[in-house]
Amino acid sequence: MRILVVGSGGREHALAWKISQSPLVTALFAAPGNPGLGRLATLVPIKADDVEELTAFAVRQKIDLVVVGPEAPLVGGLVDRLDAAGVLAFGPTAGAARIEGSKAFAKEVMVAAGIPTADYATFTEPGPALAWARRRGGQVVVKADGLAAGKGVVVCGSVEEAEAAIREILVDRIHGAAGATLLLEEKLSGPEASCIAFTDGERVRMLPAAQDHKRIFDGDRGPNTGGMGAFCPTPKVSDALLAEIERTVLLPAVRELTRRGHPFRGALYAGLMLTPQGLRVLEFNARLGDPETQPILMRLRGDLVPALLAVARGDLSGVTLDVDRRASIGVVVAAEGYPGKVTGGDVIHGLDAALAPDQQLFQAGTASGPGGQVVTAGGRVLTACALGATTAEAMKRAYHALGTISFRGMQFRTDIGGSA
Ligand code: AMP
Ligand code: GLY
Repeated sequence: MRILVVGSGGREHALAWKISQSPLVTALFAAPGNPGLGRLATLVPIKADDVEELTAFAVRQKIDLVVVGPEAPLVGGLVDRLDAAGVLAFGPTAGAARIEGSKAFAKEVMVAAGIPTADYATFTEPGPALAWARRRGGQVVVKADGLAAGKGVVVCGSVEEAEAAIREILVDRIHGAAGATLLLEEKLSGPEASCIAFTDGERVRMLPAAQDHKRIFDGDRGPNTGGMGAFCPTPKVSDALLAEIERTVLLPAVRELTRRGHPFRGALYAGLMLTPQGLRVLEFNARLGDPETQPILMRLRGDLVPALLAVARGDLSGVTLDVDRRASIGVVVAAEGYPGKVTGGDVIHGLDAALAPDQQLFQAGTASGPGGQVVTAGGRVLTACALGATTAEAMKRAYHALGTISFRGMQFRTDIGGSA
């Protein structure tokens, strides 16, 4: 079987690592990939959001399954084009991926399906938005409707902050057309969890729950990032709670999308907050999370390819997921300046250090340098992962793996997994 992984992050490196272990695979490609992926797959220099070129490549190369990592090509209709060309894909069509591509649409789906979520309203004019925020004393969350590379959400603590965020999105258009519509939500509080399921549009198979660390600095301080690390499982989500989340969140969302004529085939990600009033959905993503995928896949035993194929073919009935009882964590190593501007081009030392099979370094913002060395080429550079009998043990082993790595200006949190 010939498989193409689309994307170039730690999530895609972890997917390719898992897929490459399958005896079903005869050829593995990654577009555009990174040097880490290049050790497992043939790299194809096509951008992840170039729907036409990716489709042409898949047809030409007789690809049996395309596994789409990031949201942009999903929202951009890659899976629709592949479907039309007769190529199987793991990932939703554009109509189903709208659950991530439009936060207003996601809210409509949640309300229609009775999924618990924060109170909200949508706006296209700053005046009424500001009035809504004032009535709530500025204790609101401001969200751009469309895709904003994880930067479209501002949690506010005062009317002034809300006013500034509303103005930036609706008037200054810092997110462009993604901010033509804006959502205001009541501000909730509580621990967060990432609950991801494989779904074929009818059935769901829950992956073990994970927790992401979004802030740049230890102790959850500093600005939000794409994610500085994750651990799995999280003690906040018991088996009973995961079953409840399947029943009250994932299944109703899947059924509502199918009812609307957009069956979702892929990984559906619910970002949850466990509030004193019960669980609330903050967002849906139409894909696997990054960095959650890295520690989650460390725990999945057996062959991942049959599950991916079953999703793509629309029949998960014969699939069960076998999850390792050990805990896992993934620590993101970022470049100097992240989550702001980063420069890139710094040589990364230590990528060839000997590690155990249950310790992995998944590359993300990396590139091949002039002398054949691997250099930094993005904000999040790699994720160091490990399994352990306990989360504490997994932490020790992941930080040990990370300790082999060095590059100028590298930064990482020292407390990933600590809250578990
Ligand atoms: P999102 O991209 O929607 O997951 O939002 C990013 C982060 O903003 C979440 O992980 C939460 O920490 C925070 N957030 C989003 N919505 C809310 C809310 N209604 N109340 C409090 N925090 C929120
Ligand atoms: N780690 C959060 C996300 O993938 O959206």
